[in-house]
Parts: sequence; C-alpha cells; structure tokens
Amino acid sequence: MNIIISIFRSSIGRKYIMAVTGLLLFGFVTVHLIGNLQIFLGPDHINAYAALLQGNKLVLWSFRIGLSAIALAHITTALSLTLENRAARPVAYLNSTPPYSDFASRTMVFGGLFLFAFILFHLLHFTVGVVHPSVMHYTDAKERHDVYRMMVESFQNPAISLVYIAGMAFLYLHLSHGISSLFQSLGLKNRNYKGLIEGFAKLAAFVILFGNCAIAIAAFTKILPAVVK
Ligand code: HEM
Repeated sequence: MNIIISIFRSSIGRKYIMAVTGLLLFGFVTVHLIGNLQIFLGPDHINAYAALLQGNKLVLWSFRIGLSAIALAHITTALSLTLENRAARPVAYLNSTPPYSDFASRTMVFGGLFLFAFILFHLLHFTVGVVHPSVMHYTDAKERHDVYRMMVESFQNPAISLVYIAGMAFLYLHLSHGISSLFQSLGLKNRNYKGLIEGFAKLAAFVILFGNCAIAIAAFTKILPAVVK
C-alpha cells in the first residue's frame, strides 16, 4: 500500500501511471476497432462476435470494472499533474504558445475531456440504449441481438454520425501525441528513435481514425445496407 501511495505522490510515478494506463486504453481501442470492423464481413460475423462478448456475464462485468478503473486512474492522474504544473507556474508564459509544442500536445487536457464526454455519449448510445432506443431491440434469424442492424441504422442518422466523427477527431489528436508521449514517460524515447516513435504514433492514431470513421461513413452512405437479404 505504501508503495502505491509513494508512486502516486511523486510526479515521475504519476507519469508512469499515465503511460501504463494510456497504453492499456490504446490496446482496448485497437482491439475494439478490430472487433467492430467485422461489420464489413456481414451481420452473421458481427452478431456472433457480439454474442460471444455478451455471453459470459462474469467476464463481461470484470472487464467493464477493470476498464473503468484504468480510465479513472488515467483521467484523475492527468488532472492532478496538470493542476500541479499550473501551481508551480502561477505566472503564465509571455508567449501563450510554448515552443516545441504542436496543436495535439496543447489540447491534451481539453481534448481528453471532450473525448471523455464522447465516451459517455457512446455508452448511453450502444450500452445503455437511451440515445436511439428504436434500434436496440432487433434480433437476427438466429435470435441473437442484431448488433449489425443496430449500428447501421444508428449511423444513418446524420446527427449521430457527426457526433462520432467529431469524437474520432478528438481521439486522433489525443492518440497522436499520447502514444509518443508514453514512450517518453517509460524512458524508451531517445534521439535515435524519436522520429520513428512520433511517426508510429501518428500512423497508429490515423489507422484508428480511418477505421472507425469508415464504419460510420459506410453505414451513412448505405454502402452497408441496414437489412441484408
Ligand atoms: C465507429 C466507432 C465505434 C463503434 C461502431 C463502436 C461500437 C460499439 C458497440 C456496438 C459496443 C457494444 C455495446 C454493448 O453491446 O454493450 C461498444 C461498447 C463500447 N465502446 Fe465502442 N464503438 C466505437 C468507438 C469507440 C471508441 C473510439 C471508444 C473509446 C475511446 C469506445 C469505447 C467503448 C466502450 C468503453 C464500450 C463499453 C464496453 C462494454 O459495454 O462493456 N468505442 N462500442
């Protein structure tokens, strides 16, 4: 217990917490995208995948509680580091744009909070089912929850698609800086690998942006039909 308290008290310890929780959240977003892309294989694939995930309630709830704890640790540690940095520098820089910082790095805190708002919206949408309730209760020919039709009909609503695309833009900004920054916090970034790590961070963030937006756009443009004959 003492070790945990001393890790949280030191700024380096908190940077490690940010890096490790950030890496786990990046892992989740990547696996989630791979799962969701099965929508392009048709209703049978994505509905079977969703049924598998929902099948064991003990595993599902352990995963949900674990993921929430990781997200909470990431957000509270970020806010505590930000408040500490502000307290250490009560007088703002003369030039409000610090040198060597790009848009993504300057928007980590506010962008991160917008991203959090998007995740709440997303959970209310597909997990709780209050954003677009009419699409939540379809079942397919095998009596499984028709997750394919739920997603496609939802994204055919322009307001919902717009919210998702905006959320993905915030996710892109956050990941493109966050992935490279976590290497730095773990002490893995040096002059030789700096360019490679920053390139990887931007590419990974772009793949996540592209993959998720492709789902919303394919449904909106009816490339993916709501009902497959
Ligand atoms: C177009 C993009 C996305 C689609 C189509 C999508 C789709 C889904 C679906 C169908 C569910 C299952 C809900 C359920 O059955 O309970 C879900 C859950 C979830 N999604 Fe997404 N998602 C997308 C993007 C994201 C992003 C970018 C994040 C995080 C930054 C995210 C985080 C979550 C979380 C935390 C859950 C809850 C898992 C659970 O209920 O246990 N999703 N998503």
